[in-house]
Amino acid sequence: MMKIAVRYFSRTGNTKKLAEAIAKAVGVEAVEVSAPMLEKADLVFLGSSVYAAGVDSAVRNFMEDNNYRIGKLVNFSTAALLSSTYDQVKKIAELNDIEVAEEEFHCRGSFAFLHRGRPNEEDLAEAAAFARRVVGFKA
Ligand SMILES: Cc1cc2nc3c(=O)[nH]c(=O)nc-3n(C[C@H](O)[C@H](O)[C@H](O)COP(=O)(O)O)c2cc1C
Repeated sequence: MMKIAVRYFSRTGNTKKLAEAIAKAVGVEAVEVSAPMLEKADLVFLGSSVYAAGVDSAVRNFMEDNNYRIGKLVNFSTAALLSSTYDQVKKIAELNDIEVAEEEFHCRGSFAFLHRGRPNEEDLAEAAAFARRVVGFKA
């Protein structure tokens, strides 16, 4: 059976909401990137976001420390302005020999007065449907 993990970094809780919706959809726990990865996973949903245009170093550290435990990475993200963290995560992945799925999930994340309430229920439902699609479950 395919082993799935959901990992995330979330400073203000937005990406954590996506992580939890995705984890619930695929039947695992959402775990912060700072927790050690104890076993390999065929598929790792990795959630991140941007702070002054960059993903947090905790995300990079997670990928560096666990590259041989990650079968394939699926990116998901929230941001106020940037359209996705995909390019940044993909670049780090390439440096660490990690395969990244082409499909990804991104939605707006609230920041100050911008995008209040995002991710909202609709975003979370879309994230869950995305995750089920990726792992091949019926939506
Ligand atoms: C310190 C800080 C800097 C940010 N810089 C950016 C940025 O450069 N571009 C952007 O699109 N969003 C930026 N944001 C907005 C966050 O990416 C957005 O709120 C995101 O949903 C936060 O995710 P999190 O709650 O999981 O930490 C910034 C947020 C913070 C707190």
